[in-house]
Amino acid sequence: MAMKVLFVSSEVFPLIKTGGLADVSGSLPNALQKLGVDIRVLMPGYPSVLAQLNKLKTIAPIKHLPYIGQAELLTGNIAGTDTQVYVIKAAQLYERDGGPYSDAIGDEWQDNPIRFGVLSKVAAILASPNSPVPDWQPQIVHCNDWQTGLAPAYMKLTERSTAKSIISLHNMAFQGCYPPHWVTTLGLPSSGFSIEGYEYHGQLSFLKAGVFYADAISTVSPRYAKEIQTAAFGFGLEGLLSKRGDEIKGILNGIEPEEWNPENDIHLPANYHAGNISGKALIKQSLQSQLGLTINADAPLLGVVSRLTYQKGLDMLLPNLQKLLDAGCQFALLGGGEKDLERAFQEIADKNPGKASVTIGYNEPLSHKIMAGCDMFIMPSRFEPCGLNQMYGLAYGTPPIVNATGGLADSVVDTNAAHLENNTANGFVMVEASADGLIACILRALEIFRHQPAIWSQIVHNGMSQDLSWNHSAKEYLAMYQDMIH
Ligand code: ADP
Ligand code: GLC
Repeated sequence: MAMKVLFVSSEVFPLIKTGGLADVSGSLPNALQKLGVDIRVLMPGYPSVLAQLNKLKTIAPIKHLPYIGQAELLTGNIAGTDTQVYVIKAAQLYERDGGPYSDAIGDEWQDNPIRFGVLSKVAAILASPNSPVPDWQPQIVHCNDWQTGLAPAYMKLTERSTAKSIISLHNMAFQGCYPPHWVTTLGLPSSGFSIEGYEYHGQLSFLKAGVFYADAISTVSPRYAKEIQTAAFGFGLEGLLSKRGDEIKGILNGIEPEEWNPENDIHLPANYHAGNISGKALIKQSLQSQLGLTINADAPLLGVVSRLTYQKGLDMLLPNLQKLLDAGCQFALLGGGEKDLERAFQEIADKNPGKASVTIGYNEPLSHKIMAGCDMFIMPSRFEPCGLNQMYGLAYGTPPIVNATGGLADSVVDTNAAHLENNTANGFVMVEASADGLIACILRALEIFRHQPAIWSQIVHNGMSQDLSWNHSAKEYLAMYQDMIH
C-alpha cells in the first residue's frame, strides 16, 4: 500500500506565494506522488486558496482547537495537478486582505501565534486517533519552517499520534518566537516550556519546538545542513542542531519544469532551449523595451529578482552599481522588502534612465521575463538555505553570480580553468562576501561575456543542460520517509 504523507505548509504555489517555500510546496508533493507516495497537502484557507482550488468541498468540522474552538476542514485540488489539498477554513484567522504573515504595510499579524498554532494543531489532529478523516491516517507528517513547528510537539504531547514527523528547515532566520503566555493559550503543556522543549530565552519558539520534537530534520541543501550547526548560521539554535547533527539530512531543492522551463514558459514572448537559444535575444529586446531600457543587444544586462532583505546581500551591489552602469551595463531589478534598500535602488534607476530599471513589488510574469531576458543573474546572499532563483538562472541560460553559501555553493560551479576543462562551470562564485568581492566577481563575468563568447556559451550551455528537476531530490525524501517508518 502507498505510504501516506501529510505535507504541511503555510504557502503553496500557485495558491499563495511569498518566496521559495511556496515553489517547493507546490512542486515537491507532485514529484513524490509520481514516485508512488500518497501525499496530501495541509494549509490555511487564505482567500486566494479558497478561490483557486478546484472541486472544493467541506469534509468535516475540526474541534477542540485552541482559542477559536472549531474550524472547517475542506478539500480540493490544485488545477492541472493531482495534488489533493486540505484547507483549514477559519475566517477569523485567515480570510483578510494582506499577506500570509503581515498586513498590507508589512506589519506582522498580531495573531500569528494562533494562526500558525492552529495550522500545527490541525496537522497533529489529522495524524491522531481523533482525526476527522479517519480513513486517511498519515504515517508521516512533513512540516516546513516555523509556521508548522508546533505540529511535532502537539503530535507527541497532546494528540497521542503514532505518526512520525519530519521538519524541513527552509530558513533559520524566521523562528516564530512569542511571549510565554501563548503556551497556555495554545493548549501546550507547561512541562514542555523548558530548555528541553519549546522554550527559547524565555519565549515560546515554534521553530525550536519543531527541531526538538520532530523525529527527523532536513534542510534544503547539504551545505546549509552543516552551516546551521554554527553560530554564524544557526540563529541561536546551533547548539540544539549540532546535538542532532548527524541526523540532519541536506537535500537540494529541485525546480518545477512545468513552471520554470524556457522551452514552454508561458510568460515569455519567445521560447528557447539548450540546443538553440536564439529566442533569448528576442526576450532581452522585449524586456529592454518593456522596462524603458535602451534597446541594445550588446549591453550586458544584469538581473535581480529578490526579497530585499539583509539575507539577500544586495546592499553589497549598491556601492559599485553606478560604475557598472557607467561602464555600459544595464540593470533590471524586481523585488521588495526593506524600505531603505527599495529607495536606494530606486534612486539609482531615477538617475540612470535607459540604463537601470527598478520595479518594486511582486510580479510573477516579470520575474520569468527577467530571468530569461538578462545576461547574468546577481544573488550575493549572506546566507541562502537553498535559493531557487540561481537555479532558474541556470535553467534559463542566465549564469548566476553568487556568494559561496548554502544552496548557492551547492548548485553554482565557479568558472575557472579546472571547471571549464571538466565542463562543470555554470556561473561565478564570490571569493569574499563583501562589496569588493561582489564587484570582482561581476567584473570577471563581464570580461568573459564581452571578450570570450565561446567560453560564455559553454557556461550557458552547462547550466541549461543540467537536470535541476526534482528527479533526484524527491527520491532522497522518499528514502528518508522509508527510513523513518521502518
Ligand atoms: P526566498 O524564498 O528566500 O525568497 P528563493 O530563491 O528560494 O528565495 O525563492 C524566491 C522565489 O520568489 C522565486 O520563485 C522568485 O522568483 C520569487 N520572487 C521573489 N521576489 C519576487 C518578486 N518581487 N516578484 C515575483 N517573484 C518573486
Ligand atoms: C527559504 C530560503 C531559500 C529557499 C526556500 C525554499 O525561503 O530563504 O533559500 O530556497 O526557502 O526552500
